[in-house]
Amino acid sequence: MSTIQSGHQTGRHFLQIPGPTNVPDRVLRAIEAPTIDHRGPDFGRLGKRLLENLRTIFKTTGPVVIYPASGTGAWEAALVNTLSPGDAVLMCQTGWFATLWREMADRLGLLPTIIETDWRRGADVDAISSALAADRNHRFKAVCVVHNETSTGCTSRVDEVRHAMDQAGHPALLMVDTISSLASIDYRHDEWRVDVTVAGSQKGLMLPPGLSFNAISAKALATAETAKLPRSYWDWRAMLKANETGFFPYTPGTNLLYGLDTAVGMLLDEGLDNVFARHDRHAEATRRAVRTWGLEVQCLDPRHYSSSLTAVRVPEGHSADELRAVILGKFNMSLGNGLGILKDRVFRIGHLGDFNDLSLIGTLGGVEMGLRVAGVPHQTGGVQAAMDFLSGNA
Ligand SMILES: Cc1ncc(COP(=O)(O)O)c(C=O)c1O
Repeated sequence: MSTIQSGHQTGRHFLQIPGPTNVPDRVLRAIEAPTIDHRGPDFGRLGKRLLENLRTIFKTTGPVVIYPASGTGAWEAALVNTLSPGDAVLMCQTGWFATLWREMADRLGLLPTIIETDWRRGADVDAISSALAADRNHRFKAVCVVHNETSTGCTSRVDEVRHAMDQAGHPALLMVDTISSLASIDYRHDEWRVDVTVAGSQKGLMLPPGLSFNAISAKALATAETAKLPRSYWDWRAMLKANETGFFPYTPGTNLLYGLDTAVGMLLDEGLDNVFARHDRHAEATRRAVRTWGLEVQCLDPRHYSSSLTAVRVPEGHSADELRAVILGKFNMSLGNGLGILKDRVFRIGHLGDFNDLSLIGTLGGVEMGLRVAGVPHQTGGVQAAMDFLSGNA
């Protein structure tokens, strides 16, 4: 950090935005190994192992492709591999990231129908059911949902969306963005019969930004044969052909793949269920702190609470951005900003990735001190409430 912040700051920077997250030392060390020939035998072995192990993380037995791109690239890959110009898609506008995905669909010449929310809960499954039931001619070719809306801290129930699609007997593809939930919040590509899962490296996978993923169902793969949207870089077919031997059709992000290999190993060693339970516990401790401060969690429906981040509303007449600036300046901690209609109204506490009880208490301590320094009205005792919860559930 000292290279980009003015002046030296002692101690470590607290990067508590909801991604990119803190990269564990083991992963950083893996990434700094010398770059190897991406067409040589060592790379092929690495590629094969990674592509296999990644399936466990997505809970799929099908293929997962890796792009040297941010998550936005994997959004585009999901759409252009499966859809044709003028296709209707049903998109749930649960927050800022869902809005960006919808704007991309517009730009690609798709015809999104939008199911709105108030950005305080996950996707509206009843509204999805009604829209699908009314679509007797099966105009919708895909239903797109952001599993964990990073702008609001609301998690949609993908299992319920799947159920709604089954009830309606609707053949649309189900596409799910798990960019801020994969490897943090329980997610099951095969069991929920998701057709394309979109993910990114920089959150639960504990890597720097720069890789993104599509997990692909057999149905989606078959659709890719007839889909007409132009695609080249994102084409699954060339990728999957090269992946058969562990290679890539173009230069992969070799060093990020070293890191991914290490990070996936760490997650599998911990056990995915333990990873999810850890995130659930830290999220609950965070909400207890927020309530004790007398502040409001942005998510209103407890069934949709996010375990990877908590968005916190500041009282009317106060600025979330000023509070974040105070916390950065005084305590060297970055918190997430409010996006879109939540600009300056919320700050977001990331509690995902390489994280433990003391990282959380440090984070909440920074927030509680920041509230006081910035003059945001609150009750003290939030950190104590989190400590009480964590020590009673150690
Ligand atoms: C849920 C979600 N979807 C999509 C994106 C966009 O990904 P990227 O910024 O890596 O392109 C983000 C980024 O934070 C996200 O949180």
